Amino acid sequence: MCGIVAYVGKKPAYPILIKGLQRLEYRGYDSAGVALINSGTHTYKKMGKVKDLDDFAKDQKVTGNIGIGHTRWATHGEPNDSNAHPHTSMNGKFTLVHNGIIENYAHIKKELINRGYKFQSETDTEVLVNFIESIYMEQKVDAEIAVRAALSKVIGAYGLVISCEDEKEKLIAARKGSPLVIGVGEHEYFLASDASPIIEYTDQVIYLNDEDVAILTQDDLVLKNIQNDKQKPKIQKIELSIDEIDKNGYEHYMLKEIHEQPTSIGDTFRGRISIDKTKIFLGGIIDVMPKLTQAKRIIIVACGTSWHAGTVGEYLFEEYARIPVEVEYASEFRYRNPIINQDDVVIAISQSGETADTLAAIKMAKEKGATIIGICNVVGSSIPRETHAGVYTHAGIEIGVASTKAFTSQVTVLTMMAFMIGRKRGNLYDDLYKKLIHELTLVPEKLEIILKSENYIKGIAEMYKDATNALYLGRGCLFPVALEGALKLKEISYIHAEGYPAAEMKHGPIALIDENMPVFVIATKDKSYEKIVSNIQEVKARSGRVIAIVTEGDETIKNMADHVIEVPDSHESIAPLLTVVPLQIISYHIAVMRGCNVDQPRNLAKSVTVE
Ligand code: G6P
Repeated sequence: MCGIVAYVGKKPAYPILIKGLQRLEYRGYDSAGVALINSGTHTYKKMGKVKDLDDFAKDQKVTGNIGIGHTRWATHGEPNDSNAHPHTSMNGKFTLVHNGIIENYAHIKKELINRGYKFQSETDTEVLVNFIESIYMEQKVDAEIAVRAALSKVIGAYGLVISCEDEKEKLIAARKGSPLVIGVGEHEYFLASDASPIIEYTDQVIYLNDEDVAILTQDDLVLKNIQNDKQKPKIQKIELSIDEIDKNGYEHYMLKEIHEQPTSIGDTFRGRISIDKTKIFLGGIIDVMPKLTQAKRIIIVACGTSWHAGTVGEYLFEEYARIPVEVEYASEFRYRNPIINQDDVVIAISQSGETADTLAAIKMAKEKGATIIGICNVVGSSIPRETHAGVYTHAGIEIGVASTKAFTSQVTVLTMMAFMIGRKRGNLYDDLYKKLIHELTLVPEKLEIILKSENYIKGIAEMYKDATNALYLGRGCLFPVALEGALKLKEISYIHAEGYPAAEMKHGPIALIDENMPVFVIATKDKSYEKIVSNIQEVKARSGRVIAIVTEGDETIKNMADHVIEVPDSHESIAPLLTVVPLQIISYHIAVMRGCNVDQPRNLAKSVTVE
């Protein structure tokens, strides 16, 4: 949700900013801008993608060894040139890029207007930059003091970088709620919302904590908090490589990430399943295992695709751990005054580790005394730092806005947790425990088989690319897969799609079924198999078009459905990991055939750092 990049050093800043913004474009892409600081400050901003900005700016005066840049996902004010960042204060003293929301901006704006300030945009960011300037000019203090004074009065979330016309050699950065990473080079510093714009220059980074303020010149970094207490910078080595952020010959990141799943799932369980496949070891939650195994209730909080993974987790935890589970949308949970007890365990699932609602939900649950476990992909992100314990998914960087490999890695972690807790609580006997672990380790090779049928699946996509609606049905732990399949289709192809528990179809969606309605049914062999066969018959009786995901060799459904996509036989608890992949492939190809921007679907952002 908005990407920030900044540079202070000896190199030309502009190419670093543009390249960095392109890497961060997944965080927002409705407008972009840069400000270069040399003899003065030159700002260029444009509605549209970073490429539009580059086409507009590259032949102008883009010199300077200090600069700040931003790619925007609109919150306050529509996407246009004037609402794009950077924003400069009325008297030209400060220029600011900001990610987050200033909640009390209206009040501050009113006061500033009373003091004669005029505004060019509708953004909360322009209010903040003018607020800083007003303190600077009225109190005649240093830029850093003005920034800290303003930030101590604002309510809301920010990751920001600001330059001051009178202190041209420095940049000031601050964070609260929105991520910011400093890259440490030789006589240079980089700043970005995540490490991807930094890694080709340095692998030494400092993750800012909430309320940190960093003052950077090319040779010096001072870290403080808003109250002016000095902080010791903790330099860490990042594990990200450039290869991971390239498309590696694929047309889109989403397709690359779909194909990476055999590897990413393997990376998720590597080192966590013993070589003889008899034990699961999740080191990150070892300290909270007693709490987890004795929990009265597990509450899973998440948003979007991560919520779907959590719902798969609910089925598996209840089946094996035999602990009651509630899966909550973080945004609802945090505002509902939920009943949370000290023997509850809250599991927060988040690819980015930065989703504002999920972060707020766990902070609230932590205050009420629950034990908090995180399942996150981005190492060092905010959620893992707020939790008592956690498991990283290790899926590797996910750039496509529609989540694919992060989902299967989250499900892999939840599956391991369910088996492990089930075993520890004595619900799983040795033989079944070992069989389940073995089944899980077979997923990567089974996915390779499914991925080989991509062309066949693409042929099916071709037949349904012009659909206006689609229905996805599943039962048990395949119901969340239906939800996820529908979400993938609507996110990237803009076809309206709904996921439903297959039996619930009779209570409403069946009225929509006619010969134009594709119905995707996830119908692998499990204990509900006979029931879902009946559901398919109900769809066919109303002339619906059935595309069924089935276990290989299933002749019964083949004779009923319009198309079947086979997946290798597996234990039913493993089926979510296999069956979701054909649905990802279908959505991808339908979106490409419809000419949609697959990696950057309209209105969406990868990381939603505002509530
Ligand atoms: C956004 C993304 C989704 C993601 C959701 C939750 O909506 O577009 O792909 O599932 O946020 O994000 P998280 O990083 O918390 O998993």
